Parts: sequence; structure tokens; C-alpha cells
Amino acid sequence: MNKKTIRDVDVRGKRVLARVDFNVPLKDGAVADDTRILAALPTLNYLLEQGAALILCSHLGRPKGKIAPGLRMDPVAARLAELLNRPVTKLDDCVGPEVKAAAQAMQPGDVILLENTRFHPEEKANDAGFAQQLAGLAELYVNDAFGSAHRAHASTEGVARRLPAVAGFLMEKELEFLGRAVENPKRPFVAILGGAKISDKVSVIESLLAQCDRLLIGGGMANTFFAAMGFEMGDSLVEKEAVSTAASLLKSTGGRIVLPVDVVIADRFDNDANSRVVAPNEVTAGWRILDIGPKTVPTFESALSGAKTVIWNGPLGVFEMSRFAWGTFKVAQLLAELDAVTIIGGGDSAAAVRQAGLADRMTHVSTGGGASLELLEGKVLPGVAALIDK
Ligand code: 3PG
Repeated sequence: MNKKTIRDVDVRGKRVLARVDFNVPLKDGAVADDTRILAALPTLNYLLEQGAALILCSHLGRPKGKIAPGLRMDPVAARLAELLNRPVTKLDDCVGPEVKAAAQAMQPGDVILLENTRFHPEEKANDAGFAQQLAGLAELYVNDAFGSAHRAHASTEGVARRLPAVAGFLMEKELEFLGRAVENPKRPFVAILGGAKISDKVSVIESLLAQCDRLLIGGGMANTFFAAMGFEMGDSLVEKEAVSTAASLLKSTGGRIVLPVDVVIADRFDNDANSRVVAPNEVTAGWRILDIGPKTVPTFESALSGAKTVIWNGPLGVFEMSRFAWGTFKVAQLLAELDAVTIIGGGDSAAAVRQAGLADRMTHVSTGGGASLELLEGKVLPGVAALIDK
């Protein structure tokens, strides 16, 4: 990575503003999944051990520039205090005179968590005055919020232009793994893409096809490829407007695209639906594809055999429904057994791998959903671009 990190700066006795991605799921007023908080701990513990005072900020949900009581950071502060094993002072705003006074009174080892940055419309607008107020709280800025690095917001981008700005360890690790996979993978390099739609991922498909040796496709997006091959798709999700894109991808790079050889179809979009396994060209009216079938697993297994780098983004079926999670979990198992660098893009595929209990068998499970997709597309992430070059 060509950006400076917290290893390259002296933080002793300094107030450090760290942007973290604590956009975590909540349930009944508590953090339901602390993966993203755990992922930031190496950076936070290092900064504290080095003698910094830590001011943390993050967004939580999409409150549209207004205070949303259910999206306050209090549950996050409570969980963070347990994990850091030290008090975390949660403030009720992220800027303003009280916040400034609290920041100025900090001692090394103190930890403040600011209120949800998206309670202010200026955050998403990347407003210069707001970014300046955030910058005024600290002497150094650390961005460890990989999951938000594709957003050019005040707390991810604007503030980095107003303070010395370096990457945290999580940011560094994410860029190393995902960046290397796109730029310089160990070969054979196999990519697996799933999820509902091609249209969300056309540039990811194109960018991966420019680099990978094989691209395995499952999930709803495979249906659009089947439609492009002229197969009847019944009631399956098909993106009519993307059929011609799928057809041209098959024509130009078809030899490297591996599609399911059988599929699980159901008569309703429901976990209790009637279901059966058929070939992709045997789907009839009233039925829809909800998972890959059992013969697809050995097909994917042989496409993966010998791979040295595998990157996976997007579930291969409707994994939220237990009866249609089978294919996604089977492929997670295949990856767990490979002798390869295995990288799981964030979002649903990361959730699936965790649900399968296999997250610790992967080389890297990204904390970023949209951010990892944009990186795989080869885009420059604004939150990264704003950091100091090495
Ligand atoms: C995420 O969960 O992908 C990040 O926290 C970014 O959230 P956003 O899509 O609301 O900007």
C-alpha cells in the first residue's frame, strides 16, 4: 500500500481522531453483530498503547441528516468499552463547543466516541466547515473505516484534507488483500460472484474478467446469463435490461465463465415452498430458481481445484432462507478446504461465511460491502486517496 499508516507517525500525547466503521446491526437497543468493532481493535489498542487520546467517530445507519434516537451510538459505546476494557465516554454530538471542550480536556488513554456523524446533513455533503470542526478536535486523523472508504463524506474524506491523515491497520489489511487480488494475484485466480443482480456488478464482472482465470457465477445473476442462452426462466428473477450484456460477456469471455449445471427451483418465494432440482433449461412457468443444485458443487469444485487465489462476493442462492442456503454453505466449505488465499468480499457473502461457521478458515473476510465491490471494480476510494502518500 502506498499510504502512510499509524506505524509511520508519532502519536504519543496526541489527540487522534479515528474514523471507524461502527455501522453495525442493532437489536433491542444492543449491538447484534460486533464484527466491525472487533476488526478495529488492533488499531485502537495500538494507538492507546502508544499514548494517544482517542476520539472515535462513525456513522450508524442512514438517518438522513436528522437525529434518529434509534441510531444513537450508545449501544456501540457500551460494547466498545467491554472490548477495550476501559471506559468510553459517549458524547451526544460530534461537533460543537461541548464536544470541543471534552476533546481538549482529554488525557492519554482516554476514549471518546462521538455521536452518529450522519445526524448532520453536512456529513454526507462533505461540507468544508463541518469537516473543519471535526478536524479541530484533534492533531492527527486515522482512517480505519474501510467499509466507508468509498464515501466522500466529511468524516471520511474532508477531514483528511485538514489534518495529517494516515491509515489504520484494518484499512491497511483490507487494501492489501483486496488490492493485491485485483492487481497482482497468485494464479490460478478464480473469482466467484453471486447476488441478485448483474446490473449492480457489471463493472465488477468486467474488471474481474480482465484479471481472473475463471469466473464462477451463481445466485440470481446466473438467471440473466441463462436467459441470454435462450433458456426459459419461469418466475425466476431475470434482469431483462441486462440480458444483452450477459450475452456479450458470454460471447467474449464465455470460456472463462462457469455457470451452475443444475438449480433448485421452488413454486413460491418461501422457505416452505415445494422445491425440486432441475437442469437450468428445465425451469417452467410458476417456478423460480432459488439455489444452485448438487451437481454444481463438483463442477465448481473442479473449477476451483489448484486455485491459488479465490475471491468471492455475493451468495449463490437465497441464503436468508434455510432451505435455499445449502449451495452457498457448500461453496463456503469448498473454499475452507482449499490451499489458496481465500478472500471474502463483505456484506452478504461475509455474513454467509460467518453463518456457516467458516469465517476463521478464510484468509480474509472483508468488513466492507460497497467498498470492497468498488475496490474490485478498480475504483479509487476517496477515503483512501485523501491519506498521506508514503
Ligand atoms: C456499509 O455498511 O457498507 C458502510 O458502513 C457504508 O454504509 P452506507 O452504504 O450507508 O454508506
